[in-house]
Amino acid sequence: MHAALLDEAHRAIEKKLPERGNDYRLGYHLSPPAGWMNDPNGLVYFQGEYHVFYQHHPYSAQWGPMYWGHAKSSDLVHWEHLPIALAPSDTYDRDGCFSGSAVVAGDTLYLIYTGHTWLGEPGDDQKIHQVQCLASSTNGLTFTKHGPVIETPPHPDIMHFRDPKVWKRADQWWMALGARQGDDPQLLLYRSEDLHHWDYLGCALDGQRESDGYMWECPDVFELDGCDVFLYSPQGLKPSGYDNWNKFQNSYRLGQLDNSGCFIESSRLRELDHGHDFYAAQTLLAPDGRRLLWAWMDMWDSPMPSQEQHWCGALSLPREVSRDGDRLRMRPARELTALRQSRQTLDIGKLESQHRTLDVRGALLEFELELDLAGSTAERFGLALRCSEDQQERTLLYFDAMARRLILDRQHSGAGVSGVRSVPVTSEQTRIALRIFLDRSSIEVFVDDGAYSLSSRIYPRPDSLVVSAFAVNGAGVFGEISVWSLADLKL
Ligand code: FRU
Repeated sequence: MHAALLDEAHRAIEKKLPERGNDYRLGYHLSPPAGWMNDPNGLVYFQGEYHVFYQHHPYSAQWGPMYWGHAKSSDLVHWEHLPIALAPSDTYDRDGCFSGSAVVAGDTLYLIYTGHTWLGEPGDDQKIHQVQCLASSTNGLTFTKHGPVIETPPHPDIMHFRDPKVWKRADQWWMALGARQGDDPQLLLYRSEDLHHWDYLGCALDGQRESDGYMWECPDVFELDGCDVFLYSPQGLKPSGYDNWNKFQNSYRLGQLDNSGCFIESSRLRELDHGHDFYAAQTLLAPDGRRLLWAWMDMWDSPMPSQEQHWCGALSLPREVSRDGDRLRMRPARELTALRQSRQTLDIGKLESQHRTLDVRGALLEFELELDLAGSTAERFGLALRCSEDQQERTLLYFDAMARRLILDRQHSGAGVSGVRSVPVTSEQTRIALRIFLDRSSIEVFVDDGAYSLSSRIYPRPDSLVVSAFAVNGAGVFGEISVWSLADLKL
């Protein structure tokens, strides 16, 4: 049954490929060959290669009964799509193989995921049943299902109970789950000797509807530089000041997870990325000790114009996570410099109340530059990217001196999207260092060596390739700009 469903899904994808439109197709980000993608799942290093799985609906570019798509890479840059790994083929997961994680034990790769069933109408999330399931593989290609290993939530009034993240701690397997009891969110922990039998440890942390949202999806718990990080995707936070304007956020808290399974917080909740499209982030531990992170580079209910072209959804670039006091830093994985092709340097220096088209064009570009705040008097200055010849389409990234914020403005970034996101710039800061990655339908901005990042989808026309610099009412000073065209790997 499982194999037959996987074959059928594979044929559906093959059939769609010739019809797929490529206007927004990403060149070096992972996206599904056709159909829908959401969360990254099962991030793992197995037998010398990185494996990434993802929530996948092969039959349409809309969310539907979830499969696990699959790709692998030996260098984090070049990815090979592999056959779909999991299909919702059994009574316990018949409406979806929801998000989860992967671990390696001996020579076996294990996937731990949530089996989802609708008890009422499909889509009625007040009537659902969720169980935690196990599957395994020795070749990293085909998976055997072992069925549910946790069948009932610890309390009868918990119904939302999903997204198992498993890791090894002191020779035992630990599992974190996101849950919702009534209207309050919880982080639940289980422990196991063998991945098949699990004991409930307790609720490591709980939250209140008002300040913490109503559900914590996609938890991840890992140690980083002497601290424990609880990374998660809270649903239901209210917008406040400049924060929480996306439908849902991706956040973290730092603290210590003790051996009894209590998470003692040492810092408040913080947003992980500040763009429009970043959710359900997960991490893996690379063999060299780096903590690597991927997120779904979209957001529920956002405009997704690539759906008309028979595909939808993408993962962010892999990022290296590190800790800086009570904050996390995310830098693009160092391997990504392999994408760089020809390099150009642009020396624009000072722009006086002016707009200047630069001598560089492209959809797949990386920029490295500094904005010199000390020498600038402009109200705002920065770059306009993916501009049409008439500048009607444009994605703006600039320093706003009045707000003292770095602004990403996708008000005119093409089909469907709109809105502005920003990060603070302190009053002591004399410059902003930027690293910007543009792909055909995305922008990722790393600010001040990863202190902040902004990741957003944009949908400009394929011929909107102009880059310009601008300064409004005063002088804007730019440090030397390095620009690389990036490899179009057609992932
Ligand atoms: C997060 C999420 C998970 C769930 C999956 C279903 O985006 O809602 O909680 O497992 O997506 O596709």
